[in-house]
Amino acid sequence: MSVFVTRRIPAEGLRVLSQASGCRVQQWDSEEPVPRSELLAGVAGARGLLCLLSDRIDREVLDAAGPGLKVISTLSVGFDHLALDEIKKRGIRVGYTPDVLTDATAELTVALLLSACRRLPEAAEQVRSGGWTTWKPLWMCGHGLSDSTVGIIGLGRIGQAVARRLKPFGVRKFLYTGSGPKPESAAEFGAEFVPLTRLAQESDFVVVTCALTPATQGMCNKEFFGRMKKTSVFVNTSRGAVVNQEDLYDALASGQIAAAGLDVTTPEPLPTDHPLLSLKNCVILPHIGSATYATRSTMAVLAANNLLAGLRGEPMPHELRL
Ligand code: NDP
Ligand code: DGY
Repeated sequence: MSVFVTRRIPAEGLRVLSQASGCRVQQWDSEEPVPRSELLAGVAGARGLLCLLSDRIDREVLDAAGPGLKVISTLSVGFDHLALDEIKKRGIRVGYTPDVLTDATAELTVALLLSACRRLPEAAEQVRSGGWTTWKPLWMCGHGLSDSTVGIIGLGRIGQAVARRLKPFGVRKFLYTGSGPKPESAAEFGAEFVPLTRLAQESDFVVVTCALTPATQGMCNKEFFGRMKKTSVFVNTSRGAVVNQEDLYDALASGQIAAAGLDVTTPEPLPTDHPLLSLKNCVILPHIGSATYATRSTMAVLAANNLLAGLRGEPMPHELRL
């Protein structure tokens, strides 16, 4: 069972693979992404591939791997980097890492929301730069969660975990949108299923926690931001491509919306001269939603176990239904 691992991963995960009998591990042992040529070479002849969300696993990679490739295990819950149609056609099984990163990502989403709405990076910078001269009644004011309406785009695992954490802040009403109502999930928060347009119009905070799909790509665009209130705050921890970033820039720069917090962008990394980085009312993080030591370690072990189970023809701890 030869497997190719596309990056240095937490040791606990690698140990699972290297201690498995009959498993021969080849790895791109670096913090940096595997160059495309090395990926194509490394995957050749492999039966298993453990990859990251930054690896585009398309027809070219599958062709390079050859017919022996049986399992792809991604160290992520998102799977928009995988050419699923092609993977399915070739009978390859896919493992992923839901649930184990939900708490960490929801926590980060709340932190990002509070950073954006209470202007934390901007305020901290004022302390460093000497802008803090005295306590001023109208200085560094933002928008709070108390008595607010929060709209969640994608009330899935992470969306629900975010709502659960935000509720004690005194949120008055939760709205959500998705492919259909989810009464069981929504009941805990008394959340109302609404069309995207109404969610944009009525929410004081919009939180994007959906998957990136053809239907959600570019969903938060000029029309969407145009419907939002001038006092509203936009937060995205799903995937950058759900947002039209030019439209978001215009909405933030023109005061159409109050602020934004982004953990995900297009591209990643965001170039340091990107216009969004010139805005004080936009907080941008480098895709760290699941970045706690414990979560990343658990993800790595799960990804390794998914891969091994797939190679042995056993049920995977978390297999993506194709
Ligand atoms: P889930 O599958 O539990 O939730 C995904 C949600 O997306 C579902 O509620 C689904 O709603 C919703 N969705 C699908 N289509 C649409 C649509 N057209 N409009 C609105 N919502 C839609 O996944 P998770 O909650 O576990 O993860 C969600 C995403 O978060 C991942 O796919 C990943 O991209 C991202 N993520 C980012 C992290 C980070 O580090 N920033 C960390 C972890 C995940 P429905 O069921 O109604 O279709
Ligand atoms: C995922 O798992 O999809 C995240 O983006 C990283 O944890």
